[in-house]
Amino acid sequence: MTKPRILQIGSYAGHPPADAEIASKYEVLQYWKAADQDAFLREHAQDIEIIATSANHGCNAKVIAALPKLRAICSWGVGYDTIDIDAARARNILVSNTPDVLNDCVADLAWGLLIAACRNIAWGDRFVRANNWENKVGSLTLGTRVSGKKLGVVGLGRIGEAIARRGLGFDMDVAYHNRNARKDVDYRYIDSLVELARWSDFLVIATVGGLSTKGLINEEVLRALGPKGIVVNIARGSVIDEAAMVRLLEEGALGGAGLDVFEKEPKVPDQLKTMNNVVLMPHVASATHETRRAMTDCMLSNIDAFLKTGKVLTEIA
Ligand code: 8YV
Repeated sequence: MTKPRILQIGSYAGHPPADAEIASKYEVLQYWKAADQDAFLREHAQDIEIIATSANHGCNAKVIAALPKLRAICSWGVGYDTIDIDAARARNILVSNTPDVLNDCVADLAWGLLIAACRNIAWGDRFVRANNWENKVGSLTLGTRVSGKKLGVVGLGRIGEAIARRGLGFDMDVAYHNRNARKDVDYRYIDSLVELARWSDFLVIATVGGLSTKGLINEEVLRALGPKGIVVNIARGSVIDEAAMVRLLEEGALGGAGLDVFEKEPKVPDQLKTMNNVVLMPHVASATHETRRAMTDCMLSNIDAFLKTGKVLTEIA
């Protein structure tokens, strides 16, 4: 029996078993390896119905336009700012992501970043490794108390809710900002982002990326968070005005930051690397064995479901 044919946009470096697993089930056309990608698309234009991609590889309008038989794009990861959703919708192409399975690990990392930024965990680790403690060189400055503070969540979706829920375990007062208030949660809704930032000790960003949220966390919001405030971003780098954030951190107008995502990954502004009140991670919020396994399973289930039923299981709404 011939295997169904799939166009894979890029390698699944974020979960290495995925490449072999997808190749064992389907005949995979490896787009990223083609020397001439336009010619490759032309060659296979008539036989590609399914694309497998990821949040970081995405799928642009050019690829979609080149494949007239395309019916489904199954992505690995929850974010879809790199997929041209409008181009897919215009042709009724189904698009699926891998929601929910990563909520807990992303929320855990948001908390890890927050606690690390407040309690100087990364700095303390560097201090010990450099033998500064043993050699009595300098001293660790005091941190910021975490428990009992005010937590503002920007974007109370599935991940935002997992972050908010953890705040209750830290005896925090939790508020959020969304485009609209949610009727199914008890957290306080603050309809102005600037007001939420002014109210918050800690502001955690968990919105979708893309044009609708580009630069949402601007200078005014960061100034409202203030010199003692700490911003945490596990969403997309594009949501924060990164240049403004760096400037305010340099001025002391913003207290600190815990960042898993950046505007131009993997490029991280050099100034941030010199700041002890900033904790930096290389976009790894979902990167645990358990969650990455679940993301791969979810993507493969979507492909299987599409092949069997013509529908995907977790379609992007
Ligand atoms: C991915 C993510 O791990 O799911 C998403 O949207 O950002 C992460 O879970 C990332 O895209 C891998 O680089």
